[in-house]
Amino acid sequence: MIVAGIMSGTSLDGIDVAVVDIASLSPFRFELLASHTEAYAPEVRAAILGVSNCEAHTADLARLHVLLGELYADAVERALEAGGIVPTQLSLIGCHGQTIYHQGDARTYLGRNIACTLQIGEPSAMAERFGVPVVSDFRPRDMAAGGTGAPLVPFLDYLVFRDERTPRIALNIGGIANLTAIPAGAAAGDLIAFDTGPGNMVMDSLIRRATGGRETFDADGARARAGTPLEDFVDAEMRGNPYYAAIPPKTAGREEYGDAMVEALKRTGRPVEDLLATAALLTARSIAHAVTQFALPRLGAGLAETEMLVAGGGRRNGFLMDLLAQELPGLHIEGTERFSLPTDFKEAIAFAALAYAAFEGEANNVPSATGARHPAILGKISR
Ligand SMILES: Nc1ncnc2c1ncn2[C@@H]1O[C@H](COP(=O)(O)OP(=O)(O)O)[C@@H](O)[C@H]1O
Ligand SMILES: [Mg+2]
Repeated sequence: MIVAGIMSGTSLDGIDVAVVDIASLSPFRFELLASHTEAYAPEVRAAILGVSNCEAHTADLARLHVLLGELYADAVERALEAGGIVPTQLSLIGCHGQTIYHQGDARTYLGRNIACTLQIGEPSAMAERFGVPVVSDFRPRDMAAGGTGAPLVPFLDYLVFRDERTPRIALNIGGIANLTAIPAGAAAGDLIAFDTGPGNMVMDSLIRRATGGRETFDADGARARAGTPLEDFVDAEMRGNPYYAAIPPKTAGREEYGDAMVEALKRTGRPVEDLLATAALLTARSIAHAVTQFALPRLGAGLAETEMLVAGGGRRNGFLMDLLAQELPGLHIEGTERFSLPTDFKEAIAFAALAYAAFEGEANNVPSATGARHPAILGKISR
């Protein structure tokens, strides 16, 4: 079955589409037929930030919801073209949507305990354009079952990385970074997965500000490499923010790594290269902390016996990858390519797999990762 998976993450860099031919789920047999990234136009990115920060009118939220549905459909069209696939071959679409709000833990609201999340991007536009079912809005059902609604990609991590002998960690470095720990010989209930803290977000904000928006990221981490990280700043954040020591499952919000942190960095008065190096070190150190404090104990293994498979845009930041290797000496670190998962499209492929499972009526959450009380079929189907 040919399935298009669509992911657009917290970096707000654009829309990733993976067109995958899925033969079976367990074992997961698949072939990536085509992939495409459609960058968000600056005004679309600004509109998403606007509705995320409550600066916009409700009408803008409704408009953006439909506009994104159209943009997702466009991106799927481009991906199909790129792979020479005729649209009639497509059977199913899985779309994460764009998160504009996520509160994974229940808090009191109007007298009730409520956890909530909102991903926008109207699926009807895609169902109409391609005439195939679209699975979207995956997170709420997990939250209704008591989970945090995130992360969802461990479903794929378990299918692809579980091994009888080798304990593995799947790391994704997007706007936020997250990991999945998969013990050797694991059952699904043995996994843990959680956000480790910032991924590329702080670095991206620094570059955007320094270049007036002309550049959106520090290619390969070249400018960061020219700087000196502020160890004190990283130490203070690691000690002062209770997030890092909190027991998983847990999800990090983009609020914590947005303007407030960038302002705090700028107040040091140091050159942007130093600030970039500091942001990279914070990313690497918070990942390393998560690996040693939470992942390795779950794996029952040391650094030397464990493999870490890295995906997401941060994998392209050579400086960040060097810092990770320094912070985690002895750990085998490589990209996910060996498992037929190109690092830029692993999450899009995950949403193809999640949609396929939902469509087949199979549970696709990982309760040990989200804290849900039971397995559930996540995703709503627009036919
Ligand atoms: N060549 C590169 N060098 C350094 N960083 C990169 C490079 N390419 C992409 N990135 C980083 O990856 C980010 C996008 O990663 P992605 O996995 O798409 O995150 P998200 O899921 O949050 O959208 C960019 O914003 C940028 O920070
Ligand atoms: Mg992205």
